[in-house]
Amino acid sequence: MDNSEIKEPTISEQKAISKLREQIIDRLKNTAESGTEIDYLGKKFFVKRGVFWPRPDSMPLVENFVIKPGENVLDVCTGSGVIAVFAALNGAGKVVAVDINPDAVETAKINAKRFKVEDVFDVRVSDVFSAIKENEYFDVVTCNPPFTDEPSDDDMASRTLRDPGLRVAKDFFKNVGAHLKKEGRIYISQANSGNVHDMLKLADEAGFISKMIGKKEVGENSLEFYAFELRKK
Ligand SMILES: C[S@@+](CC[C@H](N)C(=O)[O-])C[C@H]1O[C@@H](n2cnc3c(N)ncnc32)[C@H](O)[C@@H]1O
Repeated sequence: MDNSEIKEPTISEQKAISKLREQIIDRLKNTAESGTEIDYLGKKFFVKRGVFWPRPDSMPLVENFVIKPGENVLDVCTGSGVIAVFAALNGAGKVVAVDINPDAVETAKINAKRFKVEDVFDVRVSDVFSAIKENEYFDVVTCNPPFTDEPSDDDMASRTLRDPGLRVAKDFFKNVGAHLKKEGRIYISQANSGNVHDMLKLADEAGFISKMIGKKEVGENSLEFYAFELRKK
């Protein structure tokens, strides 16, 4: 699988996908006050209102990433904690999961208990790496960030999908190298409806080689989700 497999949606497909984004954000905002349960790869995850539901966008990553027994994992933009939970179930020795949304942090803690991995879990409110200490290093950093550089309302549900000016992506690549062990690797998601080419450019400029490890076509409009493995050059 290589990065040239990225399919470019047409302008009308982009418009349809943009509508879909709006619908997803509305659904997150209108989640029941008590939260809801979402089926994902045979598991039932809990989500609080406004927290990103586990969705197919993370599947290429979750179905293809490699976690060796005992590895230290950091999951940035954890949302429901879905990627962090799978990292723990795959054998991670410790998983730090961070998100800017306090309700996401609460949700991830609930899911860690639900899947009996709370002993290896440490969940923090963090603006990208702000809650990661200088001397914390990881074998693996995972991230399913907001994909798209477009104007956004300032609520947490909108910020799950929109990253105006790619501030989150830029912050991620500015700081991730300082928290990766020497032979460490990154697993990151993106979509052809998002700024996948900008993200790969940021990765390259930050000194990483990227390789597509998974891909999922979803419904109409040529929408595709990707997972990439990044290693230091
Ligand atoms: C597309 S969702 C992914 C959630 C989860 N990892 C998944 O795969 O389902 C993006 C997540 O990034 C979080 N986020 C947005 N801006 C952030 C920031 N500056 N720092 C940390 N997390 C952020 C959102 O709250 C949201 O939970």
